[in-house]
Amino acid sequence: MAALDKAQVIGVIGAGAMGAGIAQVAAQAGHSVKLYDNREGAAAVAIELVQKQLNRLVERKKFTAEQVKAILSNLQVAETLGEVSQAGLVVEAIVENVDVKQTVFSELEAICSPECIFASNTSSISITRLSAGMLHPERFVGMHFFNPAPIMKLVEVVSGLVTREDVAQTTYETAAAWGKMPVYAASTPGFIVNRVARPFYAESLRLKQEQVADCATLDALIRHAGGFRMGAFELTDLIGHDVNYAVTCSVFDSYYGDFRFQPSLLQKDLVDAGYLGRKTGAGFYSYKEGAIKPEPVVVEPTNGEPALCIALGNLGVLSGLVARLLSAGVGVDVGPVSAQNVLKIGDATLALTDGRMASERANNEQIENLVLIDLALDYEATTHIALSRAHNTSDKAFRQVVDCLSAAGITVSELQDSPGLVVMRTVAMLANEASDAVLNGVSSVDGVDTAMKYGVNYPKGPLVWADQLGVAYLQKVLNALQDAYGEDRYRASLLIKRLAAQGRSFHE
Ligand code: NAI
Repeated sequence: MAALDKAQVIGVIGAGAMGAGIAQVAAQAGHSVKLYDNREGAAAVAIELVQKQLNRLVERKKFTAEQVKAILSNLQVAETLGEVSQAGLVVEAIVENVDVKQTVFSELEAICSPECIFASNTSSISITRLSAGMLHPERFVGMHFFNPAPIMKLVEVVSGLVTREDVAQTTYETAAAWGKMPVYAASTPGFIVNRVARPFYAESLRLKQEQVADCATLDALIRHAGGFRMGAFELTDLIGHDVNYAVTCSVFDSYYGDFRFQPSLLQKDLVDAGYLGRKTGAGFYSYKEGAIKPEPVVVEPTNGEPALCIALGNLGVLSGLVARLLSAGVGVDVGPVSAQNVLKIGDATLALTDGRMASERANNEQIENLVLIDLALDYEATTHIALSRAHNTSDKAFRQVVDCLSAAGITVSELQDSPGLVVMRTVAMLANEASDAVLNGVSSVDGVDTAMKYGVNYPKGPLVWADQLGVAYLQKVLNALQDAYGEDRYRASLLIKRLAAQGRSFHE
């Protein structure tokens, strides 16, 4: 299927934050756009705002004045809904209310051609439910843009139960022709992004609640070691706790209370207190005048001569750390063949977390002076990493690891002995949710990865990450988390179990 021809008119209903952005995107792509809002003057105000933003882009040399003139000439206010009757595609971005949206679509059905595609930008309402009662529900599709629509690349093209395949395909190709990165999704609660992203917030909230570390330390680790743009506390303060908590509750309720999505009491408290984040001047952090953002808690190195490191067994993703140490001039010898897969540093045994607590693992495997290291997006580049240690690990051994990492330019934060540290458990739970989305036919492996990279700027698709870590290793981490908590929340996805049992990866 081809994209809609540029000669086709695009109708946009609702001229709020999203509608204005979507109208701008379609106008930039060369379509004539009719923007309608039932609040008098709202569409005109929205177009003025688009004009201001585009003028700023002319100043920054992103557009020429002629281009902006052409874009603006494509954007017109529709004074009545009737003025969108010529459209080939109508995108609705009005209030998030089923009844109001259904009323608008039944009015549109009465005036638009039978070929016109009807799309909703809803982020939480089922596409199947919205299309129920329409004369032609098969031409109804979700077209879920992300905020701000002119900047964010992702568009989830969401099919309801009866959406025709060619309707979804045309919508997909049209989004691509508009310069977006579309992915197909089935209409399920949260679609892809709002579902798969839940553990990103949930795991940090849980670690904070369990006093494993403070917000600033956890945020710094998620940013520096995980490579995410923001930590969960910074990001939820920005999104607004009311909004983020409501999305979590909606996904939790829609999945009939599946504990995977259980909301956080810590976040509920913030909502109850009116600490909604930046917009109210306080959330996890204070944004009041003169407020100073707390620094992460780090372990100061002694700056002693780094102890000799000996690599034992197959270090897997930790081989990046060995390369980093070597390039910093820290001596690393390769030890005898071993099943241990650890790095000996002086008295210490450094191992990648496998989800078990350090003390538990040290007891089980009779390892002396065990220090666990968290997952990093790129050990060769990370500036900060989390460590935890077993109850019987000596201070001397722990310091030897800190000094060694410090010699390679890596700052350390020590966490309470907790399952899966920070980045590992967050990535494992993101990949677990991504896997379940694939298992349940919500999207493809590539679709889920693309959605998370372009909808929420993750540094890597969770399933690419899963494959790099190894699906069997991921399952081990999840099993250890489930074992530690005894909660269904950490149950491994059936697809992860299946792939691990077959010795396969997501991308095979
Ligand atoms: P908004 O509140 O900024 O704008 C909604 C606009 O729709 C208002 O201008 C309102 O006057 C207009 N409107 C309400 N009822 C109408 C009707 N019956 N006919 C015509 N116009 C009507 O809302 P926002 O944030 O732009 O969201 C719109 C939709 O996009 C919602 O479905 C929301 O879930 C979805 N969405 C929002 C995102 C966000 O970050 N704000 C992201 C992705 C989707």
